[in-house]
Amino acid sequence: MKNGYPHFMMKEIHEQPEAMKNTILPRISKGLPDFSDDKIPDEIFKDCNQIHIVACGTAMHTGMVARALMEPILRIPVTVTIASEFRYEQPLIDEHTLVLVISQSGETIDTLAALRLAHEYGSKTLAIVNVKGSTIARESDYVLYTHAGPEIAVASTKAYSVQLAALYMIGCRMALVRGKFTEKQAMDFLSDLLDVIPAMETMIAQEQMIKGVVSHIIQSLDAFFIGRGLDYAFSLEGALKLKEISYIHAEAYAAGELKHGTIALISDQVPVIAIATQEHVFSKTISNIREVKARGAFVILLTKEGSVVDDNLADIRIRIPDVDDRFTVFPIAVVLQLIAYYASLGKNLDVDQPRNLAKSVTVE
Ligand code: F6R
Repeated sequence: MKNGYPHFMMKEIHEQPEAMKNTILPRISKGLPDFSDDKIPDEIFKDCNQIHIVACGTAMHTGMVARALMEPILRIPVTVTIASEFRYEQPLIDEHTLVLVISQSGETIDTLAALRLAHEYGSKTLAIVNVKGSTIARESDYVLYTHAGPEIAVASTKAYSVQLAALYMIGCRMALVRGKFTEKQAMDFLSDLLDVIPAMETMIAQEQMIKGVVSHIIQSLDAFFIGRGLDYAFSLEGALKLKEISYIHAEAYAAGELKHGTIALISDQVPVIAIATQEHVFSKTISNIREVKARGAFVILLTKEGSVVDDNLADIRIRIPDVDDRFTVFPIAVVLQLIAYYASLGKNLDVDQPRNLAKSVTVE
């Protein structure tokens, strides 16, 4: 079952490039994203004046990435709400809202309740789901299945990547049908999306290096993940992954927000995983890294290969391939997953079955 891997999580990390291909390739026609086989009409992308994303946990974090990606391209509001909050709110959605519901299992009770509420408000719903025939898939107006295959480890890895792939394709199709992308721009965008697959393979091949890096943080009780813009959205998932399987308390923080209180927690006992892959805020994140370094933090910096930084800025630098800024989440996700995996392994914990957690949350 584990195909020779010590844990399902490691197997699933390795399966990501294949899962990405399976999710993306069947939906490319003449170089453009095409959902006709999924029976998703362009009208739902054209007719909405806002997008509302609802999901839980890791799936919700893909929504955070999608928001940061889509708003600048589509120029319509993209809101992300945790499903367990959404279902008890009076959300500002209506028949002109496209509600994207994201769930690996398709059975998460809060996400299902959010879907039903969206229908009560008359919104069109499109679910991104991994499990065929699941309740959310059956009840939503339209479904875009991710093709990750079964995910067994409690900590989600390949489902995160393919949910993102689906969201990137939706963003691209929407931009095309709304006149925000020319065909050439949409083709280039898809080609950039395909380029992340070898970039993910590159990072998977560096697992032993990442294992070595993790030895520096495994005794820590707390850790911070910082970044700005898309990098902040990736940080959220990095912190969740580390918490759930290594039991190290981790917080994701928008780097510029640290000095409004939280920097008081930084000391030489608190490692900081800093993500700086976004050119337009790069120098700003670098200044924030200097601030935490000056307070003694052990800094692990994740940047693109081609980024230029001072040698003494970080204690350790992990370089990802130079993919376009909008796509760095894919190789970064592999690094964050491996950090959590090796932290859990190094502490002799149950990687695949962390305490208090279930794979599918079907009760409130
Ligand atoms: C974390 C994790 C969870 C799930 C969440 C939603 O690694 O797996 O946070 O993402 O419980 O589950 P689904 O996607 O099945 O709705």
